[in-house]
Amino acid sequence: MAILIKNGTLITASETFEADILIEGERIEMIGRNLGHPNAEIVDAAGKLVMPGGIDPHVHLDLPMFGTVSSDDHYTGHKAAAFGGTTTVMDFVVLEDKGFQYSVDIWMKMAEKAAIDYSFHMNLTRFDEKIAGEIPFLPGMGITTLKVFTAYNGRLRLDDGSIFKALRIAKDNGMLVMAHCENGDVIEMLVSEALAAGHTAPEYHALTRPGWGAVEATMRLAAMAGQANSPVYIVHMNMAGEVDMLKYARERGVPVMGETCPPYLFFTIDDLRKLDGAKWICSPPMRSKEDNARIWEGLSDGILQTIGTDHCPFFYDGTKPIVYEGGEVAIPGKELGKDDFTKIPNGLPGIQDRMPVLWTYGVRAGKITANQFVAYMSTNPAKIFGLYPRKGALIPGADADVVIWDPAKKVKYGVAMSHQRTDYNLYEGWELTGYPEKVFLRGEMIVDGNVWMGKRGSGKFLKRGEGQVL
Ligand code: URP
Ligand code: ZN
Ligand code: ZN
Repeated sequence: MAILIKNGTLITASETFEADILIEGERIEMIGRNLGHPNAEIVDAAGKLVMPGGIDPHVHLDLPMFGTVSSDDHYTGHKAAAFGGTTTVMDFVVLEDKGFQYSVDIWMKMAEKAAIDYSFHMNLTRFDEKIAGEIPFLPGMGITTLKVFTAYNGRLRLDDGSIFKALRIAKDNGMLVMAHCENGDVIEMLVSEALAAGHTAPEYHALTRPGWGAVEATMRLAAMAGQANSPVYIVHMNMAGEVDMLKYARERGVPVMGETCPPYLFFTIDDLRKLDGAKWICSPPMRSKEDNARIWEGLSDGILQTIGTDHCPFFYDGTKPIVYEGGEVAIPGKELGKDDFTKIPNGLPGIQDRMPVLWTYGVRAGKITANQFVAYMSTNPAKIFGLYPRKGALIPGADADVVIWDPAKKVKYGVAMSHQRTDYNLYEGWELTGYPEKVFLRGEMIVDGNVWMGKRGSGKFLKRGEGQVL
Protein backbone atom coordinates (compact mmCIF):
# COMPACT_ATOMS: atom_id res chain seq x y z
CA MET A 1 0.00 0.00 0.00
CA ALA A 2 1.40 3.41 -0.98
CA ILE A 3 1.28 6.34 1.44
CA LEU A 4 1.16 9.97 0.32
CA ILE A 5 2.14 12.55 2.93
CA LYS A 6 0.66 15.79 1.63
CA ASN A 7 1.12 19.50 2.29
CA GLY A 8 3.89 19.26 4.87
CA THR A 9 6.94 21.48 5.31
CA LEU A 10 10.00 19.29 4.84
CA ILE A 11 13.02 19.99 6.99
CA THR A 12 16.33 18.48 6.01
CA ALA A 13 19.84 19.18 7.25
CA SER A 14 20.21 21.90 4.63
CA GLU A 15 16.78 23.00 3.37
CA THR A 16 13.22 23.83 4.37
CA PHE A 17 10.54 23.53 1.66
CA GLU A 18 6.93 22.59 1.00
CA ALA A 19 6.46 19.22 -0.66
CA ASP A 20 4.59 15.92 -0.64
CA ILE A 21 6.27 12.56 -0.03
CA LEU A 22 5.15 9.41 -1.79
CA ILE A 23 6.10 6.20 0.02
CA GLU A 24 5.93 2.86 -1.79
CA GLY A 25 6.70 -0.15 0.35
CA GLU A 26 9.69 0.54 2.60
CA ARG A 27 11.14 3.41 0.57
CA ILE A 28 10.53 7.02 -0.36
CA GLU A 29 9.46 6.88 -4.01
CA MET A 30 9.05 10.54 -4.86
CA ILE A 31 9.19 14.02 -3.36
CA GLY A 32 7.54 16.99 -5.05
CA ARG A 33 4.68 19.45 -5.17
CA ASN A 34 1.11 18.33 -5.79
CA LEU A 35 1.92 14.64 -6.05
CA GLY A 36 -0.96 12.28 -6.83
CA HIS A 37 -1.44 8.53 -6.67
CA PRO A 38 -4.51 6.48 -7.64
CA ASN A 39 -4.83 4.45 -4.43
CA ALA A 40 -2.36 5.76 -1.88
CA GLU A 41 -3.47 6.33 1.68
CA ILE A 42 -3.34 10.11 2.15
CA VAL A 43 -1.78 11.53 5.32
CA ASP A 44 -2.44 15.25 5.61
CA ALA A 45 0.56 17.09 7.05
CA ALA A 46 -0.74 20.65 6.53
CA GLY A 47 0.71 22.89 9.23
CA LYS A 48 3.15 20.15 10.22
CA LEU A 49 6.88 19.66 9.75
CA VAL A 50 8.23 16.53 8.12
CA MET A 51 11.72 15.28 8.97
CA PRO A 52 13.82 12.14 8.54
CA GLY A 53 13.53 9.75 11.48
CA GLY A 54 15.96 10.46 14.27
CA ILE A 55 19.15 8.42 14.60
CA ASP A 56 20.51 8.02 18.11
CA PRO A 57 24.16 7.00 17.77
CA HIS A 58 24.66 6.19 21.46
CA VAL A 59 22.40 3.96 23.55
CA HIS A 60 22.86 1.16 26.11
CA LEU A 61 19.93 -1.26 26.25
CA ASP A 62 20.02 -4.30 28.51
CA LEU A 63 23.52 -3.29 29.67
CA PRO A 64 24.71 -5.23 32.74
CA MET A 65 26.24 -2.90 35.35
CA PHE A 66 27.00 -3.06 39.07
CA GLY A 67 24.99 -6.23 39.58
CA THR A 68 21.92 -4.94 37.75
CA VAL A 69 21.03 -4.07 34.17
CA SER A 70 19.94 -0.90 32.38
CA SER A 71 16.18 -0.96 32.64
CA ASP A 72 15.20 -0.57 28.98
CA ASP A 73 15.67 -3.56 26.74
CA HIS A 74 15.81 -3.72 22.96
CA TYR A 75 12.02 -3.49 22.77
CA THR A 76 11.07 -0.99 25.49
CA GLY A 77 13.96 1.31 24.61
CA HIS A 78 13.03 1.17 20.93
CA LYS A 79 9.42 1.93 21.68
CA ALA A 80 10.40 4.95 23.78
CA ALA A 81 12.79 6.11 21.06
CA ALA A 82 10.01 5.94 18.47
CA PHE A 83 7.63 8.04 20.60
CA GLY A 84 10.36 10.69 20.63
CA GLY A 85 10.83 10.60 16.85
CA THR A 86 13.84 8.27 16.66
CA THR A 87 13.74 5.35 14.23
CA THR A 88 17.33 4.04 14.39
CA VAL A 89 19.56 3.43 17.41
CA MET A 90 23.15 2.26 17.84
CA ASP A 91 24.06 0.18 20.87
CA PHE A 92 27.46 -0.94 22.19
CA VAL A 93 28.38 -4.62 22.30
CA VAL A 94 30.18 -5.67 25.47
CA LEU A 95 33.37 -7.55 24.53
CA GLU A 96 33.32 -10.97 26.17
CA ASP A 97 36.41 -13.19 26.72
CA LYS A 98 35.37 -15.40 23.80
CA GLY A 99 35.87 -12.65 21.24
CA PHE A 100 33.92 -10.49 18.81
CA GLN A 101 31.66 -13.02 17.09
CA TYR A 102 30.56 -14.56 20.38
CA SER A 103 29.89 -11.10 21.83
CA VAL A 104 27.96 -9.87 18.79
CA ASP A 105 25.85 -13.05 18.84
CA ILE A 106 24.74 -12.22 22.40
CA TRP A 107 23.67 -8.73 21.36
CA MET A 108 21.96 -10.06 18.22
CA LYS A 109 19.96 -12.46 20.34
CA MET A 110 18.90 -9.73 22.78
CA ALA A 111 17.89 -7.51 19.87
CA GLU A 112 15.56 -10.08 18.31
CA LYS A 113 12.73 -8.08 19.91
CA ALA A 114 13.83 -4.85 18.19
CA ALA A 115 10.99 -2.51 17.27
CA ILE A 116 13.03 0.03 15.28
CA ASP A 117 16.16 -0.33 13.18
CA TYR A 118 19.46 -0.71 14.97
CA SER A 119 23.14 -1.33 14.63
CA PHE A 120 26.05 -1.97 16.94
CA HIS A 121 29.37 -0.44 17.91
CA MET A 122 32.00 -2.77 19.43
CA ASN A 123 33.52 -1.91 22.80
CA LEU A 124 37.28 -2.44 22.46
CA THR A 125 38.05 -3.03 26.11
CA ARG A 126 40.96 -5.45 25.66
CA PHE A 127 43.83 -5.27 23.26
CA ASP A 128 46.35 -7.94 22.27
CA GLU A 129 47.69 -9.45 19.05
CA LYS A 130 44.72 -11.80 18.71
CA ILE A 131 42.10 -9.06 19.12
CA ALA A 132 44.08 -6.79 16.78
CA GLY A 133 44.02 -9.54 14.15
CA GLU A 134 40.25 -9.95 14.48
CA ILE A 135 39.29 -6.26 14.14
CA PRO A 136 39.43 -6.36 10.31
CA PHE A 137 36.61 -8.95 10.34
CA LEU A 138 34.16 -6.62 12.11
CA PRO A 139 33.14 -4.64 8.98
CA GLY A 140 32.06 -7.98 7.45
CA MET A 141 29.61 -8.26 10.35
CA GLY A 142 28.35 -4.74 9.62
CA ILE A 143 30.22 -3.19 12.55
CA THR A 144 32.54 -0.37 11.52
CA THR A 145 33.08 1.36 14.88
CA LEU A 146 35.16 0.62 17.98
CA LYS A 147 34.66 2.36 21.33
CA VAL A 148 37.75 2.85 23.48
CA PHE A 149 37.91 4.16 27.05
CA THR A 150 40.60 6.24 28.75
CA ALA A 151 38.93 5.60 32.12
CA TYR A 152 37.57 2.64 34.16
CA ASN A 153 41.03 1.27 35.02
CA GLY A 154 41.27 -2.51 35.12
CA ARG A 155 37.82 -2.89 33.53
CA LEU A 156 37.32 -1.07 30.26
CA ARG A 157 40.36 1.17 29.81
CA LEU A 158 43.01 0.72 27.12
CA ASP A 159 46.49 2.21 27.44
CA ASP A 160 47.47 4.94 24.98
CA GLY A 161 49.71 2.61 22.95
CA SER A 162 46.84 0.21 22.35
CA ILE A 163 44.51 3.08 21.44
CA PHE A 164 47.09 4.33 18.95
CA LYS A 165 47.37 0.85 17.40
CA ALA A 166 43.57 0.60 17.26
CA LEU A 167 43.40 3.96 15.47
CA ARG A 168 45.83 2.68 12.83
CA ILE A 169 43.97 -0.60 12.34
CA ALA A 170 40.68 1.31 12.11
CA LYS A 171 42.13 3.60 9.46
CA ASP A 172 43.36 0.64 7.39
CA ASN A 173 39.94 -0.99 7.52
CA GLY A 174 37.60 1.94 6.93
CA MET A 175 36.53 2.00 10.56
CA LEU A 176 36.03 4.74 13.13
CA VAL A 177 37.28 4.84 16.72
CA MET A 178 34.90 6.39 19.27
CA ALA A 179 36.42 7.53 22.55
CA HIS A 180 35.17 7.91 26.12
CA CYS A 181 37.49 10.64 27.43
CA GLU A 182 38.33 10.95 31.11
CA ASN A 183 41.54 10.39 33.07
CA GLY A 184 41.29 6.93 34.65
CA ASP A 185 44.36 7.24 36.89
CA VAL A 186 43.25 10.51 38.45
CA ILE A 187 39.74 9.16 38.99
CA GLU A 188 41.03 6.03 40.76
CA MET A 189 43.09 8.12 43.15
CA LEU A 190 40.35 10.64 43.92
CA VAL A 191 37.73 7.94 44.46
CA SER A 192 39.97 6.13 46.97
CA GLU A 193 40.65 9.39 48.80
CA ALA A 194 36.96 10.35 48.89
CA LEU A 195 35.89 6.98 50.28
CA ALA A 196 38.72 6.99 52.85
CA ALA A 197 37.46 10.40 54.01
CA GLY A 198 33.90 9.05 54.32
CA HIS A 199 32.53 11.05 51.38
CA THR A 200 29.80 8.83 50.01
CA ALA A 201 27.17 11.28 48.67
CA PRO A 202 26.30 11.46 44.94
CA GLU A 203 28.10 14.81 44.41
CA TYR A 204 31.40 12.98 45.01
CA HIS A 205 30.78 11.08 41.80
CA ALA A 206 31.33 14.39 39.97
CA LEU A 207 34.05 15.66 42.31
CA THR A 208 36.14 12.53 41.75
CA ARG A 209 35.84 12.73 37.94
CA PRO A 210 37.26 16.20 37.27
CA GLY A 211 36.50 18.03 34.06
CA TRP A 212 40.18 18.64 33.37
CA GLY A 213 40.56 14.89 32.86
CA ALA A 214 37.91 14.99 30.13
CA VAL A 215 39.55 18.01 28.48
CA GLU A 216 43.02 16.49 28.61
CA ALA A 217 41.83 13.10 27.35
CA THR A 218 39.90 14.72 24.49
CA MET A 219 43.02 16.58 23.39
CA ARG A 220 45.08 13.40 23.85
CA LEU A 221 42.74 11.45 21.58
CA ALA A 222 42.67 14.23 19.02
CA ALA A 223 46.47 14.37 19.06
CA MET A 224 46.70 10.59 18.63
CA ALA A 225 44.19 10.72 15.78
CA GLY A 226 46.31 13.41 14.16
CA GLN A 227 49.44 11.29 14.51
CA ALA A 228 47.72 8.15 13.23
CA ASN A 229 45.95 10.16 10.52
CA SER A 230 42.84 8.26 11.56
CA PRO A 231 39.47 9.75 12.46
CA VAL A 232 38.20 9.75 16.02
CA TYR A 233 34.75 10.55 17.42
CA ILE A 234 34.58 11.81 21.00
CA VAL A 235 31.42 10.54 22.71
CA HIS A 236 29.35 12.36 25.34
CA MET A 237 31.27 15.68 25.37
CA ASN A 238 30.51 17.49 28.59
CA MET A 239 33.11 20.23 29.18
CA ALA A 240 33.61 23.70 27.70
CA GLY A 241 37.29 22.85 27.34
CA GLU A 242 36.47 19.76 25.28
CA VAL A 243 34.60 21.95 22.81
CA ASP A 244 37.66 24.24 22.70
CA MET A 245 39.96 21.24 22.09
CA LEU A 246 37.66 19.94 19.37
CA LYS A 247 37.72 23.34 17.66
CA TYR A 248 41.50 23.62 18.01
CA ALA A 249 42.14 20.19 16.52
CA ARG A 250 39.56 20.52 13.72
CA GLU A 251 40.98 23.91 12.69
CA ARG A 252 44.32 22.16 12.24
CA GLY A 253 42.87 19.49 10.01
CA VAL A 254 42.66 16.66 12.55
CA PRO A 255 39.76 14.34 11.64
CA VAL A 256 38.10 14.56 15.05
CA MET A 257 34.35 14.76 15.59
CA GLY A 258 32.26 15.28 18.69
CA GLU A 259 28.95 14.19 20.18
CA THR A 260 27.18 15.70 23.15
CA CYS A 261 24.11 14.50 25.03
CA PRO A 262 21.14 16.63 26.21
CA PRO A 263 21.82 16.42 29.97
CA TYR A 264 25.16 18.21 29.46
CA LEU A 265 23.21 21.16 28.06
CA PHE A 266 20.88 21.57 31.02
CA PHE A 267 22.16 20.07 34.26
CA THR A 268 25.09 20.71 36.61
CA ILE A 269 26.83 19.26 39.65
CA ASP A 270 24.20 21.12 41.70
CA ASP A 271 21.65 18.57 40.54
CA LEU A 272 23.77 15.83 42.15
CA ARG A 273 23.56 17.80 45.42
CA LYS A 274 19.77 17.48 45.54
CA LEU A 275 18.15 14.89 47.82
CA ASP A 276 17.51 12.74 44.76
CA GLY A 277 20.90 13.55 43.21
CA ALA A 278 21.51 9.90 42.24
CA LYS A 279 19.06 10.45 39.37
CA TRP A 280 21.76 12.49 37.59
CA ILE A 281 24.64 10.06 38.06
CA CYS A 282 26.32 9.12 34.83
CA SER A 283 29.86 9.16 33.49
CA PRO A 284 31.20 11.62 32.58
CA PRO A 285 29.27 13.60 35.19
CA MET A 286 27.27 16.82 35.06
CA ARG A 287 29.52 19.91 35.10
CA SER A 288 28.75 23.67 35.39
CA LYS A 289 26.49 26.31 33.81
CA GLU A 290 29.51 27.65 31.90
CA ASP A 291 30.06 24.22 30.42
CA ASN A 292 26.37 23.98 29.43
CA ALA A 293 26.66 27.34 27.68
CA ARG A 294 29.84 26.48 25.77
CA ILE A 295 28.39 23.20 24.54
CA TRP A 296 25.34 25.12 23.26
CA GLU A 297 27.76 27.40 21.42
CA GLY A 298 29.54 24.36 20.03
CA LEU A 299 26.20 23.28 18.56
CA SER A 300 25.23 26.74 17.27
CA ASP A 301 28.64 27.22 15.66
CA GLY A 302 28.83 23.72 14.17
CA ILE A 303 31.89 22.67 16.17
CA LEU A 304 30.11 19.51 17.35
CA GLN A 305 28.65 16.97 14.93
CA THR A 306 25.94 14.97 16.73
CA ILE A 307 23.61 14.80 19.71
CA GLY A 308 23.25 11.27 21.07
CA THR A 309 21.57 10.28 24.32
CA ASP A 310 23.90 7.79 26.02
CA HIS A 311 20.54 6.38 27.13
CA CYS A 312 21.36 3.99 29.95
CA PRO A 313 18.41 4.18 32.35
CA PHE A 314 18.13 2.78 35.84
CA PHE A 315 15.24 3.02 38.28
CA TYR A 316 15.68 5.67 40.95
CA ASP A 317 14.07 3.24 43.38
CA GLY A 318 14.18 -0.24 41.92
CA THR A 319 12.45 -1.74 44.95
CA LYS A 320 9.12 -0.23 43.86
CA PRO A 321 7.50 -1.58 40.71
CA ILE A 322 6.14 0.58 37.91
CA VAL A 323 3.48 -0.50 35.46
CA TYR A 324 4.78 -0.96 31.92
CA GLU A 325 2.48 -2.31 29.18
CA GLY A 326 0.06 -3.51 31.82
CA GLY A 327 2.58 -5.50 33.89
CA GLU A 328 4.52 -4.60 37.00
CA VAL A 329 8.28 -4.19 36.60
CA ALA A 330 10.96 -3.40 39.18
CA ILE A 331 14.66 -3.53 38.33
CA PRO A 332 17.36 -2.72 40.92
CA GLY A 333 18.71 0.75 40.22
CA LYS A 334 20.19 3.84 41.81
CA GLU A 335 19.19 2.74 45.34
CA LEU A 336 22.06 0.21 45.16
CA GLY A 337 24.39 3.12 45.93
CA LYS A 338 22.41 4.91 48.61
CA ASP A 339 25.34 4.61 51.03
CA ASP A 340 28.18 4.78 48.50
CA PHE A 341 28.27 6.83 45.29
CA THR A 342 30.62 4.29 43.65
CA LYS A 343 27.81 1.72 43.73
CA ILE A 344 25.19 3.89 41.98
CA PRO A 345 24.71 2.48 38.47
CA ASN A 346 26.01 5.04 35.97
CA GLY A 347 23.58 6.21 33.34
CA LEU A 348 20.55 8.32 32.53
CA PRO A 349 17.29 7.89 30.63
CA GLY A 350 16.87 10.05 27.52
CA ILE A 351 16.13 8.06 24.35
CA GLN A 352 12.61 9.52 24.04
CA ASP A 353 13.46 12.95 25.47
CA ARG A 354 16.23 13.89 23.02
CA MET A 355 14.26 15.32 20.10
CA PRO A 356 11.27 16.89 21.89
CA VAL A 357 13.45 18.59 24.53
CA LEU A 358 15.99 19.85 21.98
CA TRP A 359 13.23 21.15 19.72
CA THR A 360 11.80 23.40 22.44
CA TYR A 361 15.00 24.36 24.24
CA GLY A 362 17.26 24.36 21.17
CA VAL A 363 15.30 25.31 18.06
CA ARG A 364 12.47 27.34 19.60
CA ALA A 365 14.92 29.01 21.98
CA GLY A 366 16.93 30.15 18.94
CA LYS A 367 20.09 28.24 19.88
CA ILE A 368 20.12 25.99 16.83
CA THR A 369 18.18 26.13 13.58
CA ALA A 370 15.63 23.55 12.53
CA ASN A 371 18.08 22.38 9.86
CA GLN A 372 20.86 21.99 12.43
CA PHE A 373 18.39 20.02 14.54
CA VAL A 374 17.90 17.55 11.68
CA ALA A 375 21.64 17.44 11.02
CA TYR A 376 22.52 16.66 14.66
CA MET A 377 19.60 14.29 15.27
CA SER A 378 19.65 12.32 12.03
CA THR A 379 21.68 13.24 8.97
CA ASN A 380 25.11 13.63 10.58
CA PRO A 381 24.92 10.35 12.52
CA ALA A 382 23.81 8.63 9.29
CA LYS A 383 26.80 10.05 7.43
CA ILE A 384 29.40 9.49 10.15
CA PHE A 385 28.27 5.94 10.86
CA GLY A 386 27.91 4.70 7.29
CA LEU A 387 24.13 4.66 6.93
CA TYR A 388 23.67 7.59 4.56
CA PRO A 389 21.65 8.01 2.33
CA ARG A 390 19.61 4.95 3.27
CA LYS A 391 18.95 6.66 6.61
CA GLY A 392 19.00 10.33 7.63
CA ALA A 393 17.67 11.64 4.32
CA LEU A 394 14.38 12.65 2.78
CA ILE A 395 15.20 11.67 -0.79
CA PRO A 396 13.84 9.10 -3.26
CA GLY A 397 15.34 5.70 -2.55
CA ALA A 398 15.92 6.35 1.16
CA ASP A 399 14.17 4.23 3.77
CA ALA A 400 10.81 5.82 4.52
CA ASP A 401 11.71 6.67 8.12
CA VAL A 402 9.68 9.82 8.48
CA VAL A 403 8.51 11.92 11.40
CA ILE A 404 5.54 14.22 11.11
CA TRP A 405 6.19 16.86 13.74
CA ASP A 406 3.48 19.09 15.19
CA PRO A 407 5.26 22.38 15.94
CA ALA A 408 2.25 23.75 17.83
CA LYS A 409 1.62 20.82 20.18
CA LYS A 410 2.13 21.80 23.81
CA VAL A 411 2.91 19.14 26.37
CA LYS A 412 3.88 19.05 29.99
CA TYR A 413 6.65 16.49 29.78
CA GLY A 414 7.68 13.93 32.34
CA VAL A 415 7.52 10.32 33.42
CA ALA A 416 3.78 10.06 32.70
CA MET A 417 4.37 10.83 29.00
CA SER A 418 7.46 8.74 28.72
CA HIS A 419 7.72 5.16 27.50
CA GLN A 420 11.23 4.85 28.93
CA ARG A 421 11.04 1.93 31.36
CA THR A 422 12.08 3.71 34.51
CA ASP A 423 10.45 5.52 37.41
CA TYR A 424 11.67 9.07 36.75
CA ASN A 425 12.34 11.59 34.04
CA LEU A 426 15.05 14.26 34.10
CA TYR A 427 12.73 16.79 32.42
CA GLU A 428 9.81 16.32 34.81
CA GLY A 429 7.26 19.13 34.42
CA TRP A 430 9.11 20.87 31.58
CA GLU A 431 6.80 22.69 29.15
CA LEU A 432 7.43 21.64 25.56
CA THR A 433 6.04 23.11 22.37
CA GLY A 434 6.49 20.85 19.37
CA TYR A 435 6.19 17.07 19.47
CA PRO A 436 6.20 14.10 17.09
CA GLU A 437 2.71 13.34 15.82
CA LYS A 438 3.24 10.37 13.51
CA VAL A 439 6.34 8.25 13.07
CA PHE A 440 6.99 5.91 10.14
CA LEU A 441 9.63 3.17 10.07
CA ARG A 442 10.37 1.92 6.55
CA GLY A 443 6.89 2.96 5.45
CA GLU A 444 4.99 1.49 8.44
CA MET A 445 3.34 3.87 10.86
CA ILE A 446 4.69 2.88 14.28
CA VAL A 447 3.48 5.87 16.33
CA ASP A 448 0.20 7.70 15.80
CA GLY A 449 -0.20 10.36 18.48
CA ASN A 450 -0.35 8.46 21.76
CA VAL A 451 -0.93 5.12 20.06
CA TRP A 452 1.81 2.55 19.68
CA MET A 453 1.53 0.67 16.40
CA GLY A 454 5.04 -0.78 16.32
CA LYS A 455 5.82 -4.43 16.88
CA ARG A 456 8.41 -6.50 18.67
CA GLY A 457 10.79 -8.01 16.16
CA SER A 458 10.03 -5.64 13.31
CA GLY A 459 13.28 -3.65 13.70
CA LYS A 460 16.10 -4.63 11.34
CA PHE A 461 19.81 -4.96 12.06
CA LEU A 462 21.63 -2.47 9.83
CA LYS A 463 24.98 -3.59 8.47
CA ARG A 464 26.93 -0.36 8.27
CA GLY A 465 29.52 0.61 5.71
CA GLU A 466 32.39 3.09 5.94
CA GLY A 467 31.29 6.45 7.25
CA GLN A 468 32.26 9.99 6.35
CA VAL A 469 34.41 12.38 8.33
CA LEU A 470 32.34 15.52 8.83
O1 URP B 1 27.14 6.64 32.66
C1 URP B 1 27.13 6.19 31.52
N1 URP B 1 27.31 6.99 30.49
N2 URP B 1 26.92 4.89 31.29
C2 URP B 1 27.05 4.27 30.04
C3 URP B 1 28.45 3.87 29.71
C4 URP B 1 29.27 4.92 28.98
O2 URP B 1 30.40 5.14 29.35
O3 URP B 1 28.82 5.50 27.99
ZN1 ZN C 1 31.21 6.34 27.64
ZN1 ZN D 1 27.61 5.42 26.67
